[in-house]
Amino acid sequence: MLTKNKKILFGLIESMGFKPHKGQRAVLKAFLKFRFLCVVCGRRWGKTKIASMLVLYTLLEKDTKSICISKTYKLSKKLWNYVYKDVLRFYGAGVVNINKSEMIMTTPWGSTLELGSADNPDGLLGDTYDLQIIDEAATLKGMMWEQFISPSARDRKGTVVLITTPRGHNWIHKLFNLGQKLLDGWWSRTGHSFENTAIYDPEEQDLVKSQTDPLYFSQEYAASFVVFADQVYSDFREEDHVVTLDDMPNLKDWDIYASIDPGYAVMCAIQWIAYNKASGEILIYDEVLEKRLKYPAIIQNLRRREPKGGYAGFICEVAGNQRDQAGYSFIQTLEEDEWFLKKDYTIYAKRYGIIKGLNKVRAKLLNTKDEIHLKVTQNCTGTIGMFLNYHYPEKKATEKPEKDGVWDHPADTTRYFVEFIDYYENGTVEYDL
Ligand SMILES: Nc1ncnc2c1ncn2[C@@H]1O[C@H](COP(=O)(O)OP(=O)(O)O)[C@@H](O)[C@H]1O
Ligand SMILES: [Mg+2]
Repeated sequence: MLTKNKKILFGLIESMGFKPHKGQRAVLKAFLKFRFLCVVCGRRWGKTKIASMLVLYTLLEKDTKSICISKTYKLSKKLWNYVYKDVLRFYGAGVVNINKSEMIMTTPWGSTLELGSADNPDGLLGDTYDLQIIDEAATLKGMMWEQFISPSARDRKGTVVLITTPRGHNWIHKLFNLGQKLLDGWWSRTGHSFENTAIYDPEEQDLVKSQTDPLYFSQEYAASFVVFADQVYSDFREEDHVVTLDDMPNLKDWDIYASIDPGYAVMCAIQWIAYNKASGEILIYDEVLEKRLKYPAIIQNLRRREPKGGYAGFICEVAGNQRDQAGYSFIQTLEEDEWFLKKDYTIYAKRYGIIKGLNKVRAKLLNTKDEIHLKVTQNCTGTIGMFLNYHYPEKKATEKPEKDGVWDHPADTTRYFVEFIDYYENGTVEYDL
């Protein structure tokens, strides 16, 4: 059983030359006093690092059993690697038996560390532990906690440390609230990423603020339990984001793209988007949103609205490769089109993950520095409608918006484009075709 000696804990940390920041110190103190810790912090706050210190300490005591559980082994290995390096540094080689194939460390005084993963929950059954670290706990399902983790803390009066970036109002939120009230042995704390000044110096803080929107920032960095509710693009304001035709800039020096969601059987969405390389501004200035538009009709639209200087490229999701009833994909049809061939245009098609893309669009609408990089002209009523109406499902706690059959299509074309520009700006344009 763990005895938790304050002097030894802080002595160990000092001898390792590790300087915990304020938030990490609070965790160390809570570890001495409480059995259940729920630590909710931003990215790169130092969660895995401080957890590794608790493991290192527990290994130092006699006959203890520790386990680190994450969603995947790959994630658990991060903590393992921290501990592994420190064990070698502290004891030298050969003292602690390290079995890399089974991922178990055993000290000569009978203490062990093993790794577990939610991928393989049966491996967690039956054993009890003095210390269970659940790294990035919010990515695990609540049933993992109820069925596998919580029971194995009982026999040895073990300590459980849930450490994580928040993911909406899930099971972690309930345990966090218990900790706020110090009920049932629980202690909890939130930690802002910027507490880790070793990583987030003022320059880095500034960079993060310019790349994130306020909602995303509050979850990922400020570690708040954000609810992604209602309107997906809640920062969209007609007065700030809609450009009247009178105020339309001269697009002479802008690159013009068309972003296409061909959706043959359902809704086809095309957006004509101008991008100003120098300023990073994006302006959606024309659109087509129509049901059952056949592929040749889509191409006709692209031709008819071809800008004077030609297109800088076409953006399409890789699903544009899916075939229609006649066995043809939109991308194939476009690639074989005479006009397209003559102009030697490029299609940028890629498979995009939705959540990251949504956050990128949000950051273009408004970043934490209050800057706007994405606007739409007043004639694009479908796109404006999308920004106002694209929403999350009411009853389900999810980060994925409702596929309502209307707004999700222009939402997709906007998202593909912003993803494309993100790659473009970072100098890594690639496509999956
Ligand atoms: N107190 C500290 N002082 C200096 N560097 C730290 C401290 N805590 C963590 N770090 C470093 O910060 C980075 C992120 O730590 P990590 O524990 O992996 O973050 P998280 O698990 O919260 O994403 C790592 O490089 C780690 O070594
Ligand atoms: Mg981590």
